Amino acid sequence: MKREDRSNKVISLTKRILDRKSIPSHSKWNTRVISITSGKGGVGKTNIVANLGFSLSRLGKKVLILDADLGLGNLDVLLGLTPEYNFSHVIMGLKTISEIIIEGPGNMKILPASSGIQELTELTKEQKVRLLTQLDLLINPMDILLIDTAAGISSNVMYFNVTAQEIMVVVTPEPTSITDAYALMKVLSLKYSANHFKLLVNLTASTQEAREVFWQLRRVADRFLDISIEYVGCVLFDENVTKCVKVQKVISEIDPDSRASRCFASLAKKICKSPPFHYPEGDTNFFWKYLLEDKSD
Ligand SMILES: Nc1ncnc2c1ncn2[C@@H]1O[C@H](COP(=O)(O)OP(=O)(O)O)[C@@H](O)[C@H]1O
Ligand SMILES: [Mg+2]
Repeated sequence: MKREDRSNKVISLTKRILDRKSIPSHSKWNTRVISITSGKGGVGKTNIVANLGFSLSRLGKKVLILDADLGLGNLDVLLGLTPEYNFSHVIMGLKTISEIIIEGPGNMKILPASSGIQELTELTKEQKVRLLTQLDLLINPMDILLIDTAAGISSNVMYFNVTAQEIMVVVTPEPTSITDAYALMKVLSLKYSANHFKLLVNLTASTQEAREVFWQLRRVADRFLDISIEYVGCVLFDENVTKCVKVQKVISEIDPDSRASRCFASLAKKICKSPPFHYPEGDTNFFWKYLLEDKSD
């Protein structure tokens, strides 16, 4: 498909996503869906997803993580897991979704998506129905679904973001990260009508510095964009994070008193306390539901 055709398709599909009337009446998932995204790569998204997921599960939440970095997904490597199968095996009919789910630390469930998701558009109606039924069974009992997106502003990143209920933008104090986060929110707002963002500042020296980063972004956004940005907290720079990555462990599990672990724990508490963002219909809105919708209906 030509690049232009593909982006037109993305825009028209996204419009359908945002048109609440196109939501199938049976879509009543109560799982809270949060995407973790950034624009710039290497800002700590995957570490945040893994540690936040772990901290949320410590608070008694049933957490599912979707590795949606379709090209360079490395959540499994970070967690020291070696999934044998991924989404493409489900699509080929070789495995069911529950057979490809793997368990991470703290009983978190991980759905290794890999490139399989890219093939969703090619499915027959029968395959789509089968897949949706399986997804319903899997997602329904979960409290929270965290989506680890890829870097950049590709159509896949946009899809995952606009279909999550909450978009958490990760930024660091580096100017390049700040400008990329701004660019991401700008595109999401102007092209995809996403207007609410949560901001998490990672790799910061202090909470004071994190707040300054937030205000810096907020001032520019208030001036040029019609969006709201909510500060959700920060994760301090902690050299133990890298040490844990090297041994493929989650810092919140093996060193719960470290600077970063404490930040993850308080972030998880804050998320549990804040009510999820609800669309007027009150139902959970999710990528596959729309991607899998039969366009001929
Ligand atoms: N709070 C932190 N303190 C120290 N190092 C961190 C922190 N967060 C992330 N890192 C390091 O930053 C690098 C990139 O993290 P990663 O989660 O892979 O980013 P992304 O998913 O955004 O590409 C990793 O080497 C990780 O160890
Ligand atoms: Mg990553």
